Amino acid sequence: VLNTFLSEVVQLSLPEEQKVSITTVTVGLSAVLTCAIQGTLRPPIIWKRNSITLNFLDIEDINDFGDDDSLYITKVTTVHMGNFTCHAHGYEELYQTHILQVNVPPVIRVYPETQAQEPGVSASLKCHADGIPNPKITWLKNGIDITPKLPKQLTLLANSTELHISSVRYEDTGAYTCIAKNEVGVDEDISSLFVEDSARKTHAAVANILWREEGLSVGNMFYVFSDDGITIIQPTDCDIRRQIKPDERIVGSYEEMCPRGEGESTQYCIWASAVNVRDKYIYVTQPSQNRVLTIDIQTQKVMQSIQTDPVPVRLHYDKSHDQVWVHSWGDMQKSLPTLQVITEASGGETHHTIRTLIERVDDFFIPPTNLIINHVRFGFVFPKSEPAIHKIDLETMTRIETISLKNYSCIPQNMAYTHLGGYFFVQCKVTSLASPLTQIIIDSVTDSVVGPNSDVSGTPYISPDGRYLISTDERGNMIRVQTITFQGKIKLKFDLQTNLHVADLAFQTSFSEGNQYSIYTTSQSQTDVLYVELSTGRMNILKNLKDPISSQDWPWSSHNRIVMDSGLFGQYLITPSKESLFIINGRQNILHCEVSDIKRGNTVVWVGDV
Ligand SMILES: *[C@@H]1O[C@H](CO)[C@@H](O)[C@H](O)[C@H]1NC(C)=O
Ligand SMILES: *[C@@H]1O[C@H](CO)[C@@H](O)[C@H](O)[C@H]1NC(C)=O
Ligand SMILES: *[C@@H]1O[C@H](CO)[C@@H](O)[C@H](O)[C@H]1NC(C)=O
Repeated sequence: VLNTFLSEVVQLSLPEEQKVSITTVTVGLSAVLTCAIQGTLRPPIIWKRNSITLNFLDIEDINDFGDDDSLYITKVTTVHMGNFTCHAHGYEELYQTHILQVNVPPVIRVYPETQAQEPGVSASLKCHADGIPNPKITWLKNGIDITPKLPKQLTLLANSTELHISSVRYEDTGAYTCIAKNEVGVDEDISSLFVEDSARKTHAAVANILWREEGLSVGNMFYVFSDDGITIIQPTDCDIRRQIKPDERIVGSYEEMCPRGEGESTQYCIWASAVNVRDKYIYVTQPSQNRVLTIDIQTQKVMQSIQTDPVPVRLHYDKSHDQVWVHSWGDMQKSLPTLQVITEASGGETHHTIRTLIERVDDFFIPPTNLIINHVRFGFVFPKSEPAIHKIDLETMTRIETISLKNYSCIPQNMAYTHLGGYFFVQCKVTSLASPLTQIIIDSVTDSVVGPNSDVSGTPYISPDGRYLISTDERGNMIRVQTITFQGKIKLKFDLQTNLHVADLAFQTSFSEGNQYSIYTTSQSQTDVLYVELSTGRMNILKNLKDPISSQDWPWSSHNRIVMDSGLFGQYLITPSKESLFIINGRQNILHCEVSDIKRGNTVVWVGDV
């Protein structure tokens, strides 16, 4: 009897060299993680990620634990990167860690697709590549690799992401192919250069390009919404290309764009938020008119006014579903906040809003798309004064889940997302001076709270490639820079002491190194703009950019002085002061120009190639 009893004692073992195991999988494929804990009468295996047990959760793509208790991920994405641990039920001390690395084949964009230059001027061909590991870039000219033996007047800059020709000659005309390659794939695209005397304009294609470059185009401009209407600015030469005045008529209804308020002596506009819809339309809110206007970019005309709930203050364009989300306050006290949706936003037909059943919306967050992530399915809503966030299905516009933040007494205020490891960073509201300042991390694989982001507080901003998290603490005087590694680890990179009281932040792609960024931050109360190179921490201050719009004059958000970049390949940024606009040259990191006499131009949209 004793013998049988003894033989039933559980004995488990895990070879030392298997305590940590690294698995590398390519995105889109499946992965099987097998627990190396062995032993007689081994109890069932429990799998965890960020201390959350996976076995009893109903998780899409992780749904089958197999006969041998292996963990199956049916379609790996970058959100799965990070650690999965396993242990036998009831024996938590003995556990194995699987580090899952996810490789992503390169995805590239070149710019420009075509360009025409006259002999003797300089030309740049750019290629931006994302992928894991970092792709290596090579260039072909008319099919022949030019990287090994570069002609004299050509230079490769920023890890070959830019091919610079100092003085173009006729024979530089050609099709330049950028090839980006890493361990798991390759992507390529062509940037064409025509060198031709503009006087001749023989080639129809060249004539077309020259026409565009002479500025007869409507793209590659900032559209600024201010008290004075809409100002369309070409940043290279700081030129105002068009001014749409407050009394200009809306095409669809023949109403004035900005009707004169009762008893007002001057006619001026009030705007809060604008979005670019596929470089075709701009949607912009007029909070005091309870409406959204659409602007046709090609004709530069105000097309339609769409009635919304009272006081619409924030828009988001959901590219994946071609919908514009409209957040309205109901009144200036924000007592009846709602969320509405305008569907088929890039279509030409007459638009209207659809009411969602989501109520008491304090604010909302929809993760951005980037080169690697081009479809977003879920958004998040912050219910008014509640320590929770609602997860919503963007397609059906309904709530599917509520994630409680009660354990952290966290009333959400802002959110950011990185597809690397699938982390959400939630900034909690400061409810009293004594309340702790924190950011909470949520794992998008399990929709569970992981815990606080160490001792980081402030507004989270994520770089377009998901690799940097910048937190700006408005109350304290700190900017913290963290990185998210390809193993899903969040690491402190450096802290910056500043008394800036950050109003807004923009990312600028680096001109000296591939896959790198710098940031520009504006201040809520001061005239300086801070620039920081993220790879080195090197910083600089652009001084005397005049006073920001006061927060009383900007009730719509805490961003009383925005700063906006000009896209992946742009080199200009724009930031308004009270009564003018400043354009910054992000390549040379200097002030480029001031455009005066534009009041409260704090709503801006960049329109790229049209
Ligand atoms: C770019 O080049 C620098 C210096 O040669 C190197 O340290 C860095 O790793 C490279 N970056 C990428 C993304 O390849
Ligand atoms: C909150 O904390 C309690 C007690 O520690 C725990 O039982 C519960 O699961 C936690 N809830 C959430 C949503 O994390
Ligand atoms: C994963 O586990 C390794 C080994 O224990 C550890 O060094 C690393 O910090 C963990 N990573 C994360 C994202 O927790």
